[in-house]
Amino acid sequence: MPIDPNHPLVHFAPELGVAIRTPVVTLASPTMDELARLAERAGEGIHAPDAMPFSTAWTRGSADEVASRVVRHWLRTVGANEATPIATLPFVVFHPTEGPIGVQDLVLARGWPSLATVSTGSWLTAAAQGRGIGTWMRRAVLTLAFRHLGAARAETTAHADNLASRRVSEKVGYREVGTSIALVEGRERLLVHYRLERGDVEDDPSIIVTGLGPEVLKRLMAIPAT
Ligand SMILES: CC(C)(COP(=O)(O)OP(=O)(O)OC[C@H]1O[C@@H](n2cnc3c(N)ncnc32)[C@H](O)[C@@H]1OP(=O)(O)O)[C@@H](O)C(=O)NCCC(=O)NCCS
Repeated sequence: MPIDPNHPLVHFAPELGVAIRTPVVTLASPTMDELARLAERAGEGIHAPDAMPFSTAWTRGSADEVASRVVRHWLRTVGANEATPIATLPFVVFHPTEGPIGVQDLVLARGWPSLATVSTGSWLTAAAQGRGIGTWMRRAVLTLAFRHLGAARAETTAHADNLASRRVSEKVGYREVGTSIALVEGRERLLVHYRLERGDVEDDPSIIVTGLGPEVLKRLMAIPAT
């Protein structure tokens, strides 16, 4: 059960009440207990020890270090200054019986909303991977972006050897648009870039967005000062 939409915290920070329901998982804000549970699970391992699917190697280190980064990423992202537009909506992914199992961020590009581009970042606990959930959580935030925020396109990047992430992008309808090389943990890694135009994907009525009141929309659509 994510945070209760009637909780006083949601009254004071309405963006915490945004939720996206799909037929298999719900994306929403966690309670503090759920955030701690998710962090513990992340500490148990998200990928094989010799792999590194992320551009910042935040999954290296002890279980407690990884868990701490999960908590701090969440708190930092939801804790944006109330006077500034929201730049990233961080969602925790909830399974109906397993509880919090991962994170799906929706990132509004620099230049948003004039440049109506969004990007995404995500991970699931090892036990939750390979069951179709990554595809649903990506579709969930794209529905929010295309149906409710007026996004024109979505972009994403995966390491060339991250076949699960690449396959999710391809299943959802993204097109490969190029590659680049980045330094990750001191090693050159090939990145593959994908783009999805709004018209490339059909709206999925089985995905329901709630809690998107006028105050949240105003902060999501505000034009930054610089
Ligand atoms: C990437 C991630 C979020 C995808 O979520 P997921 O729930 O595992 O993805 P799904 O089950 O919806 O889809 C994965 C697809 O990749 C395919 N796939 C997975 N591993 C594969 C492999 N080694 N070779 C070929 N295809 C593979 C699956 O078969 C599936 O495709 P299909 O439905 O056509 O069979 C998840 O795997 C994850 O958290 N990985 C570790 C962290 C990570 O890589 N984050 C993204 C960084 S860019």
